[in-house]
Amino acid sequence: MKYLLAIESSCDETAAAVIDDNLQVLSNVVASQFELHEHFGGVVPEIASRAHLERILPVIDEALTSAEVTLQNLSAIAVATEPGLVGSLLVGLTAAKTLAAVLQIPLVTVNHIEAHIYACQFAVAHDIFPTIGFVISGGHTNLYDCPSPLQFDLLGATIDDAAGEAFDKVAKVLGLPYPGGPAIGQLAKQGDATAFSFPRTFLKEKRLDFSFSGLKTALLYQAMGTPNSHKEVPPLTTQRRANLAASFQEAVVDVLVGKCRQALEQKQRQRICVGGGVAANQLLRTRLQKMANETGAELILSPVEYCTDNAAMGGIAWEMLKAGKIAPLDCNVTPGLVRMPQRRGRRNKN
Ligand code: KG4
Ligand code: ZN
Repeated sequence: MKYLLAIESSCDETAAAVIDDNLQVLSNVVASQFELHEHFGGVVPEIASRAHLERILPVIDEALTSAEVTLQNLSAIAVATEPGLVGSLLVGLTAAKTLAAVLQIPLVTVNHIEAHIYACQFAVAHDIFPTIGFVISGGHTNLYDCPSPLQFDLLGATIDDAAGEAFDKVAKVLGLPYPGGPAIGQLAKQGDATAFSFPRTFLKEKRLDFSFSGLKTALLYQAMGTPNSHKEVPPLTTQRRANLAASFQEAVVDVLVGKCRQALEQKQRQRICVGGGVAANQLLRTRLQKMANETGAELILSPVEYCTDNAAMGGIAWEMLKAGKIAPLDCNVTPGLVRMPQRRGRRNKN
C-alpha cells in the first residue's frame, strides 16, 4: 500500500489528510480558524497566515497519527498552491516542500478548485471522469467541462459574488452568524419560498455565467427598505426573516440547478459532479437529484464532510502522480484573483 500526505491551507482552514492509493481516506484533520475571523465578519489574510503557521505541524502530526502512518511510510506530498490567500498558501507549500525534500519523495501541487470537484470521487467506486464539474463555494461558482482528472475547461463563472459569498452577506442582513450558508438553510425551513419573487439572473440565457449581486441587493431592499423611498418597511419579524431566507435560497438553487441542466445539454455530458461548501445545502442536493432524474444524467455529489475545505480532496494528486506531474522544489504559489472589500464611490483606475 502507498500513502499520500495532502496539505491544504489556501484560506482559513489548516488541513492535512492521509489517502492511500486505493483512494481510502485514512485521516482527515481540519483545524478551523472560524473563531479568529468571526469578529471581523470575514477572513483577515494576515491573521490567517499566522494561524496556519501555528497549526500546520500539529495538524500534520495528528493526520499521520490517526492514520497510523509514519513519515517514512509516505510516497508523496500533495499541497494546494492555487487559488487562495498568498500568505496562507505559502505556509502549506513551505511545509510540503520541506517534507518532500527531507524525505526525498515527490511533491505534487494541486488546484484547490479542481480538488473540490475531485471530492466527488469519494462518493462512488467508479471513475467520475468525463464529467461536468461544478464548484460552488465561498470564493467560486465555476462550471467546468472535465474530460479527464487532468483537464478542467472553464465553461462559466460568477461575474460578481460567489454563491457562498451571497449566502454569507444575506445572512448578515438577516442577523444570522457567519458562515451564513448553514444558518440560512436552517431558517429557510420555517419560511415560505414563494413569499418574495427574487431575480434569477441569466437563468433564461444560454451563457453559463452567474451573478448574485442583484439578488443580494433585492433582498437587502426588502429587508431594510429601498434608499430614498418613503415607503414604510414592515418589521423584520422571525416569520419575515424566514420567508426572506427561504425565497433567497429558492432563487439561488433555481439558478444553480438550471445552469447545471444547461451545461449537461450544451456539452452533451451524461454526468455532473458538484462540490464546494454550498454543495452541502440540502435543498440544492434534493433539487439537483430531481434534475438528474429528469435528464437521465448521473449526479455525483461530494459527500457532505468533503464539501467545505479539507485536505482529503487533495487525493487528486494520485491522478497527477500517475501522469508524472511532479512539481519542482522551487515551485511557487498562484494566489489568483483576490477580491478586496469594495469601497463605495471609488474605482480602481488601473
Ligand atoms: O468550500 P468552502 O469551505 O470554502 C471556499 O473554498 O470558499 O465554502 C464555504 C462557503 C461559505 O460561503 C458557506 O456559507 C457556504 O460555503 N456553505 C453553505 C452551506 N455550508 C457551507 N451554503 C449553503 N448551504 C450550506 N449548508
Ligand atoms: Zn474551498
